Amino acid sequence: MTVERLEAPGVRNPPPRTMPGRGDWWVQPVAIAVGFTLFIIYSTISVVFLDSSHEWQAGPYLSPFYSPLLRFGWWPLSSAILVAWVPLGFRATCYYYRKAYYRSFFWDPPACAIREPPGGIAHLRTRYTGERRLPWILNNFHRFFLYLALIVLAILWFDTISAFYWKGGLYVGLGSIFMLLNVILLTGYTFSCHALRHLVGGSVDCFSCSFAGHQRHAVWRAVSRINPYHGTFAWFSLVSVAAVDLYIRLVAGGVFGHCIGTHLGC
Ligand code: FES
Repeated sequence: MTVERLEAPGVRNPPPRTMPGRGDWWVQPVAIAVGFTLFIIYSTISVVFLDSSHEWQAGPYLSPFYSPLLRFGWWPLSSAILVAWVPLGFRATCYYYRKAYYRSFFWDPPACAIREPPGGIAHLRTRYTGERRLPWILNNFHRFFLYLALIVLAILWFDTISAFYWKGGLYVGLGSIFMLLNVILLTGYTFSCHALRHLVGGSVDCFSCSFAGHQRHAVWRAVSRINPYHGTFAWFSLVSVAAVDLYIRLVAGGVFGHCIGTHLGC
């Protein structure tokens, strides 16, 4: 007698999506995959291969990829590599990005209530292990990357304020404004982080019973207010970081004719 195997619909085996008019479910994961790929290509070129051009700095501007500027004689590779692992680790372990890249790159699953495609990565697994093995277990370090990212963010604010000071006086250039917009978006991204929300108040059962409870409650409420926009901040700040780096490189290369770059004649 043949016994037909019945699998219950659920997280691992959702029923096919049948909602009318939702045949466009693939648009978002594909768009995210394209966006991620473009950013990874651009940032890798800038961080790894373009250090020697010195075009990461132009007058009072410093590319966020190279901040804080750590240059050591004993380090043979790009100085940005000494820094980039912090924001990279912060973003790679971010809850929002995890959902995004699991869906867009691994199609695991590609969207809510959509089956994992036959032959996809999910079918290579013999059993579900969650994030308990390398490399995905590293995602549990997110809170530690958050601590480091807060330090880098403070340095980026210092760089941004410094970008409004040039040749002994106040200076306002397009680059200063771009850097300001970028650091505001990065602040929104960092302060809407789920791990930060947990850190400031998520683990507290009773605010009025805990140390500095009123203050913690106020901070927790502020973080909770921007937390729903975490995905928006994630995307806008990703684009702004690359855009500021590109702008500074163009200024440094003399493309706009400003005499604050590293090109000849300045
Ligand atoms: Fe996205 Fe923390 S959850 S940065």
